[in-house]
Amino acid sequence: MNFLEERIVKDGIVKEGNVLKVDSFLNHQMDIDLFNQMGEEFKRRFEGKNINKIVTIEASGIGIACVVAQHFGVPVVFAKKSKSINIEGEMYIAEVESFTHKCKNQVIVSKKFLNEDDHVLVIDDFLANGCALQGLISIINQAGGTVEGIGIAIEKGFQVGGNIIRNLGYQLESLAIVEDMDEKTGKITFREQ
Ligand code: G4P
Ligand code: NA
Ligand code: NA
Repeated sequence: MNFLEERIVKDGIVKEGNVLKVDSFLNHQMDIDLFNQMGEEFKRRFEGKNINKIVTIEASGIGIACVVAQHFGVPVVFAKKSKSINIEGEMYIAEVESFTHKCKNQVIVSKKFLNEDDHVLVIDDFLANGCALQGLISIINQAGGTVEGIGIAIEKGFQVGGNIIRNLGYQLESLAIVEDMDEKTGKITFREQ
């Protein structure tokens, strides 16, 4: 097991409905030493890629993205979620459907902060069905930028997102891929990488 898998086993809690609670170290209280290790590991996995910007989505992607960005020496742009606005012309907009919350949201990024010169590393905390990620990719494509890679902390390997994104040809690096979680015993099984 790597450092993140070990931490998930130690402090993660399996909830009903295949939800993994990691709010003591990842998406509520945040362990910055752990985030730094993640940054080092992403730097290693995306070695040789020419990356000038990190893109993530609010809320829980932001903390990780900021720490990872220090390892790349680049700025972070986060996509904002909004119910429905029309700032026609000034923003890139993608529709994102949330399976968990059963609703459609727009995610938006100002055209000021992404363009065709950008070589982007996308960072997020979770990959489940991949809808948020597809929205981010759409926004980077609208800007004419290049997706150099995608770095995820925890992928839920039994949901469809990972397959969809890998089949699109992107370099997707997930630091922990959960293959199975047992609500009753709390046992978590990871994919060998
Ligand atoms: P997806 O299609 O974008 O992959 O996500 P999905 O709609 O399935 O999930 C909705 C939200 O729930 C996302 O956060 C996602 O990160 C989070 N999520 C999915 N599975 C788990 C899980 O097992 N554990 C935890 N802790 N979170 C999970 P969000 O609501 O879009 O963002 P945020 O504001 O929390 O960052
Ligand atoms: Na989340
Ligand atoms: Na997230």
